[in-house]
Amino acid sequence: MFQPRCRRALPPLLALGALLLAGCGDEAVPAELQVAGGDAARGRLAIAAHGCGACHVIPGIEGAVAWVGPPLMEWARRSYVGGRLPNAPENLVAFLQNPQAVSPGSAMPALPLQQSEAVDIAAYLYTLGQAPAVPPGQPLAPGEAGTLPEPRLRPRLDRPAQ
Ligand code: HEC
Repeated sequence: MFQPRCRRALPPLLALGALLLAGCGDEAVPAELQVAGGDAARGRLAIAAHGCGACHVIPGIEGAVAWVGPPLMEWARRSYVGGRLPNAPENLVAFLQNPQAVSPGSAMPALPLQQSEAVDIAAYLYTLGQAPAVPPGQPLAPGEAGTLPEPRLRPRLDRPAQ
């Protein structure tokens, strides 16, 4: 009869698989950052369609490597939206729909977003930062830093991982 040789390796492998799955789904987003009715997969498409990557570094979005505005990586770990309001789903949705109303004088343009698109985009942004893929303090990967030649470091983890 066939005896698998690596039976002892199976439980850790299963645990790793569960961890990876959790990292991909909405389960990883804590309750207070869940966006009611938001769909992260649709949000990702909306971010690409509206060209947010022309101004922001956004992990998971092809070509989103610009440093005109602040990088949106590890968004779920930010404390504030636009430097004004606590980083919470309703505040992020309001900012995306009308940045100047939340942060007067903001250089972020008001883009023609439907309410449902803003909600989906917020859902996507909150999937960023739940599980930092690369240890903090490491240089960004090629392409992640945009066109600037100097190396940039990932932000330090000042708060314990959630
Ligand atoms: C023309 C450039 C430009 C485009 C296009 C743009 N942004 Fe911005 N964005 C900015 C700038 C500049 C800021 C910083 C101003 C501020 O925080 O008020 C900003 C701020 C933000 C913030 C708050 C960042 C923080 O640290 O608080 C979020 C979130 C954001 N943008 C998301 C988006 C999304 C999503 C899109 C696409 C729908 C988008 N932006 C399109 C320039 C842009």
